[in-house]
Amino acid sequence: MSSPYVIDISNVRKTYSGGVEALRGVSLKVPRGEIFGLLGPNGAGKSTLIKILMTIIRASSCQGVMLGQPVGHKATLAKVGYLPEHVRFPEYLTGRQVIHYSAGLAGVPTRYAKKKTEELLEFVGMKTWAKKPMKTFSKGMKQRIGLAQALVNDPDIVFLDEPTDGVDPKGRKEMREALRELASEGRTVFVNSHLLGELEMICDSAAVMTQGEIVLQGSLSELIQSDGYTLSVEGDLSVDLQTKLERMQVKHENGELTVENKHLAQQLIDTLRASEVNILSMYKNKQSLEDMFLDAVEGMGPGAYQGESKKENKPNKEVVNKEVVS
Ligand SMILES: Nc1ncnc2c1ncn2[C@@H]1O[C@H](COP(=O)(O)OP(=O)(O)OP(=O)(O)O)[C@@H](O)[C@H]1O
Ligand SMILES: [Mg+2]
Repeated sequence: MSSPYVIDISNVRKTYSGGVEALRGVSLKVPRGEIFGLLGPNGAGKSTLIKILMTIIRASSCQGVMLGQPVGHKATLAKVGYLPEHVRFPEYLTGRQVIHYSAGLAGVPTRYAKKKTEELLEFVGMKTWAKKPMKTFSKGMKQRIGLAQALVNDPDIVFLDEPTDGVDPKGRKEMREALRELASEGRTVFVNSHLLGELEMICDSAAVMTQGEIVLQGSLSELIQSDGYTLSVEGDLSVDLQTKLERMQVKHENGELTVENKHLAQQLIDTLRASEVNILSMYKNKQSLEDMFLDAVEGMGPGAYQGESKKENKPNKEVVNKEVVS
């Protein structure tokens, strides 16, 4: 039976020649046919990991497989696509020429390359501008051509390193739609990003990397699941009851009572019933991917994340390693 994971690696280490320990024992499982997000602050080691999987750089140590073959197996790369970060194509080439040229580099037979190029121009919505040189394109248009060139070999896995970096909201939306379509065709889309909101909208599963280590990994629904519950209640609460709830560490705001775990939720229900308060609704809380990410990188030292959040002074929480559920 084939593995549910297209990438299953462990203990990947990379120390650059200057002595920078970019990866410090990374283990990762990427499920087949999903959009997988590798999140991490600048310098976390995300691009280093992709470059190792693409055999652009050599790992100091690496165990595991990609598409069933040991990492570094060159022939496997024929089934892999790649959009590098900060990619720059020759400015004088047209969009069509960039894709066609990439097809040649990927070894796509000439008789298919032309047809494939036209299909991909259509797929990324660049047919109308296909004859224009790259220098006339916006960042979003360049990234669309970049995505197209990563698909010339009909890859099973496509690595996209910061595909929406510098792209405007419309361009990002179009990129998301394209990625969903790729996953619906059964391809695995591996996206590196520090744009958490972006990934939250598209990823099926994700891992968080900081300072060369994976600190969290799992399906998105697992990762953003919180242990807490919120109950909404009818009417005002007596002073006596409010004091009790305070002692139980229940947060009370606008008729909503929030507790941090299942056990406290049970106690809260009992207390409310004893006080004859009507419970209108109860739901399990979710946290945003950003909250999850910040919880995971807290305590990692200064500069662990300088992203979009303004969240401050949260108490330290233990980092949990949630494995992907097969
Ligand atoms: N060629 C290199 N030589 C030496 N150090 C390097 C090299 N490439 C990357 N590094 C260092 O390795 C660490 C990881 O870098 P990497 O580019 O993999 O991070 P990243 O998570 O992709 O960051 P970003 O979000 O900024 O793209 C950083 O400290 C970086 O400075
Ligand atoms: Mg990078």
